[in-house]
Amino acid sequence: MERPVDVLLEEHRLTRRSIGVLHRLADRVEAGDPFPAADVAVVLNFFREFVELVHHQKESAVFYPFAAMTGGDDAAESVGELIADHDESKTLLHSLTVFWEPTDLLADERKAFAEVARAYGGRLLRHMETEEEFLFPSAASIPGDDRIKFLEEFEEIASGHRTAGDWEPEIARLERMYR
Ligand SMILES: [Fe+2]
Repeated sequence: MERPVDVLLEEHRLTRRSIGVLHRLADRVEAGDPFPAADVAVVLNFFREFVELVHHQKESAVFYPFAAMTGGDDAAESVGELIADHDESKTLLHSLTVFWEPTDLLADERKAFAEVARAYGGRLLRHMETEEEFLFPSAASIPGDDRIKFLEEFEEIASGHRTAGDWEPEIARLERMYR
């Protein structure tokens, strides 16, 4: 049976690939390439819909409460920080979407877009590292009954949203375009 931690790790892999794309887009925009509005929209939608609404929701609503209850003091402390990260990353993503324009950006907007994009990507990378280092190992052996319940709750949260499998070809296309 799949473990809830494996679902989250799989989502982290796709998120890391998307952060790579976002950072390369930031470099190009900053260097003066025409603003790739359509491609930036795809990446921002991925972060908004998949990372913020699905992945972070699975963690906040299902996974963190379990880890905080069963993982001891260290886990409980990490959970507090991780929840604060979710709030902060949501705010950063919102700022990033404010810069989005269907046409081109002005010079100072380009610089600001690139800076916020790097701040958002960097924040998510650190966040995932903390989870993988302090939370996921202790939750790897969730008992069978809880595993089923967690996976069901994960599915409920994800229903109506595009899955990692739906997003992967889009992200792969952008990786080929922005190397
Ligand atoms: Fe995560």
